[in-house]
Amino acid sequence: MEKIVIVTGGAGYIGSHTVVELFLAGYTPIIIDDFRNSKPWILDRITQIVGKEITAHTVDCQNELAFNEVLSTYKAIYGIIHFAADKAVGESVNQPIKYYQNNIGSLCVVLNALKKFDIKNFVFSSSCTVYGETLTPVVTEESPIMPPASPYGDTKIIGERIIQNYWKTTSDAKVMLLRYFNPIGAHPSALIGELPQGIPNNLMPYITQTAKGKRDSLTVFGGDYHTPDGTAIRDYIHVSDLAIAHVKALTYLEKSSTKLFDYLNIGSGKGTSVLELIKTFEEVNHLKLNYQIGNRRPGDVEQIFANADKAKKIIDWTCKFSLKDALLHAWEWEKSLTT
Ligand code: WQD
Repeated sequence: MEKIVIVTGGAGYIGSHTVVELFLAGYTPIIIDDFRNSKPWILDRITQIVGKEITAHTVDCQNELAFNEVLSTYKAIYGIIHFAADKAVGESVNQPIKYYQNNIGSLCVVLNALKKFDIKNFVFSSSCTVYGETLTPVVTEESPIMPPASPYGDTKIIGERIIQNYWKTTSDAKVMLLRYFNPIGAHPSALIGELPQGIPNNLMPYITQTAKGKRDSLTVFGGDYHTPDGTAIRDYIHVSDLAIAHVKALTYLEKSSTKLFDYLNIGSGKGTSVLELIKTFEEVNHLKLNYQIGNRRPGDVEQIFANADKAKKIIDWTCKFSLKDALLHAWEWEKSLTT
């Protein structure tokens, strides 16, 4: 029996890499995406990697009628992995309502559908931004949830609470929240990767576009943080490692015979500063990057990286790719793009 898994936002950056890994693990992923953050040709690339056709429905997850209409065409849906959301910290400071409306609105549509179609397994794309301005640089899942540093982080905190309250109303729901740290890089085949629309909000695509000459130079947001080199520290992980974490989480839910609600840090466990990332990128790709230090970006936290022990214990997940692998693959992907 095929195990149909609905992947909302499945044509996006993390979503498309997860769809590849779901196929390779024997699931049948079905994409629901409005392609605001992707291009249809990504679907062909997924097929090139896995050798199977992928079904995708162009639907905005805020549209409950359209969303349910798609789900009603499938007899038995094994699970939902919910990625569809806006995710740029900096952008969310300037456009908070867009973030609350989309990220919370879409989540409520998906949770209603879990109940309506009696779907038991749910994996949610959460974020390390739920920890806010952390009291310590390294966080475990039990670290306090501090006041959010950005509307994006707030939508993830609220989202986790909505999901837990939904879960309490069920008798058999199995839920896993994955708190991502910073996904970077691209599939080793360089057939899929990050496709920022317009000027990149995130560091990695801005670095690769600058290296390619698409951007004149990179501005490092803040050189006066209380860190060894003054730049902010994050926990960068290869996007394929993050994708595999979703498959492992789903398999873990499948094996559980009772209802469950849990949450995991998905990070490398290592902090890397912006300057360290730039220098490592230059080193592995044998190039020099044009950058300058500028002002801090509103909404940024100074430093955060994961204690990822629980993910190893619960779903037997650890990073397989190194930071250098991710930086190499990011550059290979950027070079493959014609625009
Ligand atoms: C990283 C660092 C910036 C751009 C991301 C995702 C979020 C979540 C966590 C999944 C910061 C600096 C950036 C630039 C810079 N992941 N920077 N110049 O804000 O940590 O959040 O990871 O949920 O969805 O957005 O990532 O790449 O924007 O910034 O100096 O042009 O790079 O200040 O210190 P962030 P980011």
